[in-house]
Amino acid sequence: MTTESATDGARPLVSLERGEIDRRIFSDPDIFEEEMRHIFGRSWLFLCHGSQIPKRGDFFEAPMGRDNVLVVRQRDGGIKALLNTCAHRGNAVCRAEEGNAKNFMCTYHGWTYDIAGKLVGVPGLDELYHNDLDVSANGLREVAQLEVYKGFVFATLDPQAPPLLEFLGRTGITGLEFLAGQGELEVVPGIQKFVIPCNWKFAVDNIFDWYHPQITHLSAFQTGLAGSADVRGTKMKTAGVAGPDGSEIQLPGGVASGAASDQMVFIDAFGHAISGPTVEALGDSGGRIDHSWRDSPEARGNLGPMARRSAGHASIFPTCWITLLSNQISLRVPRGPMETEIWWFTFVPKQAPPERKTAIAQGAIHSFGPAGFLEQEDGENWAQSTLQTRGNASAKIPQLLQMNLRRGKVVHDSDGLDPPYIECSINEHGQLWTFASWVHWLSGCGWPELRERTAPPDVI
Ligand code: FES
Ligand code: FE
Repeated sequence: MTTESATDGARPLVSLERGEIDRRIFSDPDIFEEEMRHIFGRSWLFLCHGSQIPKRGDFFEAPMGRDNVLVVRQRDGGIKALLNTCAHRGNAVCRAEEGNAKNFMCTYHGWTYDIAGKLVGVPGLDELYHNDLDVSANGLREVAQLEVYKGFVFATLDPQAPPLLEFLGRTGITGLEFLAGQGELEVVPGIQKFVIPCNWKFAVDNIFDWYHPQITHLSAFQTGLAGSADVRGTKMKTAGVAGPDGSEIQLPGGVASGAASDQMVFIDAFGHAISGPTVEALGDSGGRIDHSWRDSPEARGNLGPMARRSAGHASIFPTCWITLLSNQISLRVPRGPMETEIWWFTFVPKQAPPERKTAIAQGAIHSFGPAGFLEQEDGENWAQSTLQTRGNASAKIPQLLQMNLRRGKVVHDSDGLDPPYIECSINEHGQLWTFASWVHWLSGCGWPELRERTAPPDVI
């Protein structure tokens, strides 16, 4: 189904002008197939961090749409990403999610590949194949392009895709710098993975949603286990939400402050966005968040003044979320129209004292992942929202993204390091920008046209 044929008469799938979304995009199987082809088959995707595979033969399996790739440290210290599918009959050549290997032997008929993907063993090559098999042409296939930005490994299956830095733009780079700026990083062992019965785009939409915590996460903040209100909170007041002792409780991104610019949004080509509070509004979560790197000479060289003020949630289109609240990267991995696997990578500065590393890891576990208070609460909403796109009558109701609509004035810092940005209060610009860009990805247009169509407007 093309984007055009997916429209219902005059109704487009996404209206940037009206701030409306056709609900069918959250459960239609044909649209999901188009996403696999036009988005996940082409986009640069985050695979893993170099610190996860430090030694020769270390590997980590990562998803690229429905393809799975083995990200493998090579003999020369480089990194390759190999499709985890045997050239013979397609079986996966590796069943482990991560580890160290000297080679990968397929469990079906025993074809064996070295860590560079070269086919080095074929049972019966002489007697059965009569040496008439082109061994050199039947290694594991590689991704089309792989690049590493400060340890963050990305790849694309599209040889036509622009270089990684061009794809990321200032917004994607800013998001990665929220972590990289802290110095040399390492990933806490054990990537958390679990499934939520929802469409992946609900999980992406929520990255930018600072409107829901006061309701969705009330119980999590009342317990204090997901970070108490004053730990996670901003200086903004919420609208009369009472804590267990009857006192008013502050929650992140509170809505009743009336402050006109306590939030910042960045939008960029290809659908990347950052949205959330400023550093001043968020604070340091009781010392849990280290903002000191923002004034370093390196940060000043890499980021513009507005980017260094942002403590928002960064989304590298389509599914990579960077959150400095818990020092994590999350992937919203689509497994089906109504099924999403959530992955969490937790980062700690390599040189940090053990107690700080432990504090970061504990904060992350209590916030997100299967044991995280926040994500359990979020997941219930996303699952229900997905289900309600299936009703014959419900599916016809447009979904709304109209908060601050057409009031978001985009400032273009064309000479500097800042991405296009908006200063405002809580809004739905980040979500709307994601969906508006998503439509253009789905059209299957070429890269130059995609960049042009997703160039940030002056007002959103
Ligand atoms: Fe791998 Fe046959 S499918 S050896
Ligand atoms: Fe949430």
